[in-house]
Amino acid sequence: MCGIVGFTGRLQAAPILLDGLEKLEYRGYDSAGIAVAAGGGARPDGTAEGGDARPDSTAEGGDAQAAGSAAAFARPDSESAIEIVKAKGRLKVLREMTDDGRSVPGTCGIGHTRWATHGEPSVVNSHPHCAKNKRVAVVHNGIIENYQDIRARLTKEGFTFLSETDTEAAAHLLDKYYSGDPVEAIGKMMFRIRGSYALGILFADRPGEIYAVRKDSPLIVGRSEEGNFIASDAPAILRYTRDVCFIPNLEIVKLTGTEIHFYNVDQEEVEETFSQVSWDTEAAEKGGFAHFMLKEIYEQPKAVRDTVSPRISEGHVNLEELGMSQEELAKISRIQMVACGSAYHVCMTAKYMVEQTARVPVDVDLASEFRYRNPVMEKDTLVVVVSQSGETADSLAALREAKKLGYRVLGIVNVVGSSIAREADSVFYTWAGPEISVATTKAYSTQLAAVYLLAIGLGRAKGVIGEAAEKEMTAELMRLPEKIERILEEKERIQWFANKFSYSRDIFFIGRGLDYASSLEGSLKLKEISYIHSEAYAAGELKHGTISLIEDGILVVGVATQSGLFEKLISNMVEVKSRGAYVLGVTSYGYYSMEDVANYTVYVPKTMECFAASLTVVPLQLLAYYMALGKGLDVDKPRNLAKSVTVE
Ligand code: G6P
Repeated sequence: MCGIVGFTGRLQAAPILLDGLEKLEYRGYDSAGIAVAAGGGARPDGTAEGGDARPDSTAEGGDAQAAGSAAAFARPDSESAIEIVKAKGRLKVLREMTDDGRSVPGTCGIGHTRWATHGEPSVVNSHPHCAKNKRVAVVHNGIIENYQDIRARLTKEGFTFLSETDTEAAAHLLDKYYSGDPVEAIGKMMFRIRGSYALGILFADRPGEIYAVRKDSPLIVGRSEEGNFIASDAPAILRYTRDVCFIPNLEIVKLTGTEIHFYNVDQEEVEETFSQVSWDTEAAEKGGFAHFMLKEIYEQPKAVRDTVSPRISEGHVNLEELGMSQEELAKISRIQMVACGSAYHVCMTAKYMVEQTARVPVDVDLASEFRYRNPVMEKDTLVVVVSQSGETADSLAALREAKKLGYRVLGIVNVVGSSIAREADSVFYTWAGPEISVATTKAYSTQLAAVYLLAIGLGRAKGVIGEAAEKEMTAELMRLPEKIERILEEKERIQWFANKFSYSRDIFFIGRGLDYASSLEGSLKLKEISYIHSEAYAAGELKHGTISLIEDGILVVGVATQSGLFEKLISNMVEVKSRGAYVLGVTSYGYYSMEDVANYTVYVPKTMECFAASLTVVPLQLLAYYMALGKGLDVDKPRNLAKSVTVE
């Protein structure tokens, strides 16, 4: 949610900032902006030479409206050494305005791509924000909760606010406190602001220096021979470096082209360690696919394989990385799962799966509810937080709440070193690699795989399943990737159907048991990217109200893979069909009687019923993808959404 990137070093900053922002567009894309500081001009080869060689021809006057957009240049202030360019709309508007960054020279700068929270998407509300005379420029991710209070006080003191954003309060506070020592000013600001923030800061009289600070919103530092970086997420800088450090909470960082210094909240210098990101740049590129979403759908077999295979040896699930002995595992009396969005649907699947396999009761909560509901939990409850990004604000808050209450927390997380990964007692990484598309696909599939492993390991530790059952289950788990591949080979069937129905107004998904959990995910995928209204219902519940919405031609997707529930689901499908619905059946090979009811049937390979969600989700993802495509929508950047929701 909002992307930040910064660079200082030997190269021109603006093209690097734009490149980085492009990789972060999944975090927000309603406007974008950059601030580049003078100091260090450019040689024609793109490297920098000393001194302020900023050509004076770069000043573009006025609020120039870019064709077809409300984009505008901010007029460079002659008194300031910081030049700011902002544009409403996608990053490409900013690219065009700055000639891909070439028209904004300078080797030190910060950039931002916005997901609006306070104030509509507009040039004036887009970042960077500055204090008077552009003495200070700030980019921000997060929410400053007491900004209205700060704004009122500072206005009384004579500060003028131009935007509706919470961020501007930070810019003016920094200006107020700055008297030559940036770290001191940032430290003072930290005591005044509440909420969450990752900030990238330029001070006009400190050329070549970037300052950064974070609380509860992610921010990393990267270093390279050519210079140093800040970024919200590693893909933004992978092209230049893999040598990164996740800035610890409440720490301040000073970057020059050659040095990086960390300070704690008391402004004392502290040492931090860097680590290598193993993801390669290719993983964060589209690699020939039309969209990241399609690429990531196709990466699912590998992602599941990478998540499962290191944890299975000789048919046995190895959960050593949890740091819990078999006795400790056996003692778990209850599991409390918390997550948001698709990760919440994984938890719903886990409830069915873990309860059946390990006979441990599982409670599932939305993180945003859990954190405020003062939960009653048993002593030996294991709290499991599931999150792709590891930064979702509500999931992180739920984790902290659980820890405060004294419970052990396990994080199922995709991003190594993320906040949830660092704060959980144990981490079980999903090895999906970087997921760029806003609508999650491969991370979801790896989260499913992770909960299967957890269920099997727990079932064994508790003696609910024996060695033979464990072997049978792990062997089938290892076969899931090739079964997903088989579904992808037949994608045309679902593609054809999706094109036919892409202008549907309402779609209902129904399922029972595990298939209900899959229906929830299918429905969410669809509404996220195709903007078609859709709802998922436990099929037996439909007749208690919602069936009144079924009318001629409405599409109902019935998911049925559970033998004990198959006939029941078929009856529910008959009920909606007889009220005019057009019925799409999603089932496993073998259940051919589906065709007696469904108008159109999609089959997935047979697997053990407890793993069926991993297969049925694939046609549902493809359905959403091709419906959105059929409507000509931007699949990877759906309106109003952001991939990493780091605000409450
Ligand atoms: C956002 C994304 C969803 C995601 C949810 C939780 O809403 O758009 O796709 O499922 O956040 O994200 P997390 O990173 O915690 O899994």
